[in-house]
Amino acid sequence: NIIYNYFLFLGDLMKHLISIRDIGKDEILNILNESEKMENLLKSKKPINILEGKILATLFYEPSTRTRLSFETAMKRLGGNVIGFTDIKNTSVAKGESLMDTIRVISGYTDIIVIRHPSEGASRLASEYSDVPVINAGDGSNQHPTQTLLDLYTIKREIGKIDGIKIAFIGDLKYGRTVHSLCYALSLFDDVEIVFISPEELKIPKEIIEDLKKKGNVKFSEKCHIDLTDVDVAYMTRIQKERFPDLNEYQKVKGIYKLTKEHICDKNLIVMHPLPRVDEVDSNVDELPQAKYFEQSFYGVPVRMAILKMLLENE
Ligand code: NCD
Repeated sequence: NIIYNYFLFLGDLMKHLISIRDIGKDEILNILNESEKMENLLKSKKPINILEGKILATLFYEPSTRTRLSFETAMKRLGGNVIGFTDIKNTSVAKGESLMDTIRVISGYTDIIVIRHPSEGASRLASEYSDVPVINAGDGSNQHPTQTLLDLYTIKREIGKIDGIKIAFIGDLKYGRTVHSLCYALSLFDDVEIVFISPEELKIPKEIIEDLKKKGNVKFSEKCHIDLTDVDVAYMTRIQKERFPDLNEYQKVKGIYKLTKEHICDKNLIVMHPLPRVDEVDSNVDELPQAKYFEQSFYGVPVRMAILKMLLENE
């Protein structure tokens, strides 16, 4: 059974999920297909117990609503259990315990770990000290691969394809990790066009531009005003206040973009946002059929179910 062995092989490669760069297009498509099955299973309301007896640890060194709760929901929907922390003040981190020691201990208690941390590279480090799979749920402004998978799922589900789309990223392209991960993933698809819309201070990092140039198959441009001409996806982002070394710099760009009904009511596009939003998408957009950010956050559950299943079935 060649096809079955092929998927097993793909699954074997994926021990941890730290950066979207660690997986290829085939693995991404495989996860998206599995996510669709999970969405159908969820809709059928039938109990799914494929991860019965397994325990997920959610270690959140930074605030989260959707990422943590959709992971927890995903694990419980699959019949598994969850332990974890959301406030390091109540853990041994407050006594000075290192990330390495915390991971060594938790990996002995559980079957899989989801970690969010303010330092870039923290999840990679954690994976080196863990005997069980580690999933990066955001490391500083670096990467957020599971958000990317649910973003891709949203695009595929709502537009019907990923190849050939034109996407505008709007807002904090410097510190926004969801943008960094999604840009890389999109460069694996064919004929994608990206418009980066940001103030000068929050431009997309040079490394990402260099990477896109090297890959050569993504057309891109940079702008400072919202321009949604021929755009299929308007991907809004929050200005990442917590990442600014100097809050005066934040004050200068705060509230710089506000997407309103007028920008999109006559356009054939979808509006996405990883959420939380602050003031960058007016609430009058919510009622438009183009607004897909709440659907997007719902897709976090089936996509994370697929990721948990795929990482745990090889254990
Ligand atoms: C994003 C994050 O944490 O990077 N949120 C999320 O996971 N949905 C985006 C953000 O915080 O602005």
